[in-house]
Amino acid sequence: MYSEKVMDHFMNPRNVGEIEDADGIGEVGNAKCGDIMKIFLKIRDNRIVDVKFKTFGCGAAIASSSMATELIKGKTLDEALQLTNKAVAEALDGLPPIKMHCSVLAEEAIKAAIEDYKRKQQSKQVNS
Ligand code: FES
Repeated sequence: MYSEKVMDHFMNPRNVGEIEDADGIGEVGNAKCGDIMKIFLKIRDNRIVDVKFKTFGCGAAIASSSMATELIKGKTLDEALQLTNKAVAEALDGLPPIKMHCSVLAEEAIKAAIEDYKRKQQSKQVNS
């Protein structure tokens, strides 16, 4: 049912954990399955220099988060914003149709973390 890549990223997820002084944090959940994904970003000069995740969810959600963090590491914010859940699923050599929503969580969590970063930057400018 699952590709070897999904199994690999599920068994040995990359970039698991937290970044204590993260520049942007995004947390999203899926109301139906109850799974939650949290992404932490470290950003320098508009580029993602570090990324970590914590996912309380199914195997496909963990594999999706792991792959998504690998795909955005070192990318600019604009490039990371273009990452779609389809691209994450393709990079994993596919997900079963009923598990596609798990990859949507990864796309949404990354977008939420970048939005959080941008919001913080704006409030810094307002306060300085
Ligand atoms: Fe909900 Fe996978 S079953 S994220």
